[in-house]
Amino acid sequence: MSDTDYLGELIPVCDPYTLENKTILITGASSGIGRATARIASLQGANVILVGRHKKSLLQTLDEMENRSRHGIEEFDLNEIDAIPDWLKSITKNLGIQINGLAHFAGIHETVPLRVIQRKSMDAVMNVNLYSALALLKACTNKNVFMSGGSIVLTSSVMGQVGQAGVVTYSASKGAVIATVKSSALELAKSKIRVNAVVPGMVHTNMFDDLVRNMPEDQFEKMQSYHPLGFGEPEDVAHSVIYLLSDAAKWVTGTALVVDGGYTCH
Ligand SMILES: NC(=O)c1ccc[n+]([C@@H]2O[C@H](COP(=O)([O-])OP(=O)(O)OC[C@H]3O[C@@H](n4cnc5c(N)ncnc54)[C@H](OP(=O)(O)O)[C@@H]3O)[C@@H](O)[C@H]2O)c1
Repeated sequence: MSDTDYLGELIPVCDPYTLENKTILITGASSGIGRATARIASLQGANVILVGRHKKSLLQTLDEMENRSRHGIEEFDLNEIDAIPDWLKSITKNLGIQINGLAHFAGIHETVPLRVIQRKSMDAVMNVNLYSALALLKACTNKNVFMSGGSIVLTSSVMGQVGQAGVVTYSASKGAVIATVKSSALELAKSKIRVNAVVPGMVHTNMFDDLVRNMPEDQFEKMQSYHPLGFGEPEDVAHSVIYLLSDAAKWVTGTALVVDGGYTCH
């Protein structure tokens, strides 16, 4: 679309997906979907706080972003559930800002058949995939931390909607994320904070590589055939998250936006 009208005068073109003047905190920003979202959020004008456990990988993300000096990195292990609210409080206090958007991608995947499942691995998956999300939501109830009118996006998975053998704990954690956004959307609506989830199918990231590394060829082909549009790229999910973070989605809360190349059509 041209930004020039028929008289040749410049007219402003409104971008409903802009993130100008918004500070967005992104967990899992050191790779995969989180890194892609950070890059696109910077193109959309956001100031981004990148969260992960490894400074080197966060700096790699930063190198791919627009307006490098506008963004910051925060090394933090989201297994420290009880420390999350105070950690977020100290970030916003030190920077003298409030956060407008939170995209929580940090997560782990484990393939463990039920017959050998142990409490330790259940805790590991639930901690990062679910409990950290609950603690981040708690942190966002603090008005000094998270701004009224803001948007929170959590990450579910198609495994939270349909079943697959061997990933029961992962499925449980991702199904719980969908339930979490519905109740927290209701609880936070009075503060004009929106809460949604994205529900990705299989996307080419490190997690994907780990998952398929030891997968028999026939199982891989079956998995591929379940995605009528093929496997996804991190940007495919990132664009949906940018929408949910932006004011274009100002009337959208409590949803689980499926971005799965058709996986759940079956
Ligand atoms: N890829 C897929 O096919 C797919 C499908 C459906 C849903 N998802 C979901 O999408 C999200 C992003 O995954 P991805 O595919 O982009 O995988 P990824 O490339 O492996 O990224 C996972 C991210 O989580 C971070 N992380 C893990 N444990 C953490 C912890 N204790 N503290 C802080 N950060 C931690 C990692 O950071 P560091 O290790 O650097 O700290 C990394 O940035 C996950 O929630 C995943 O479940 C992925």
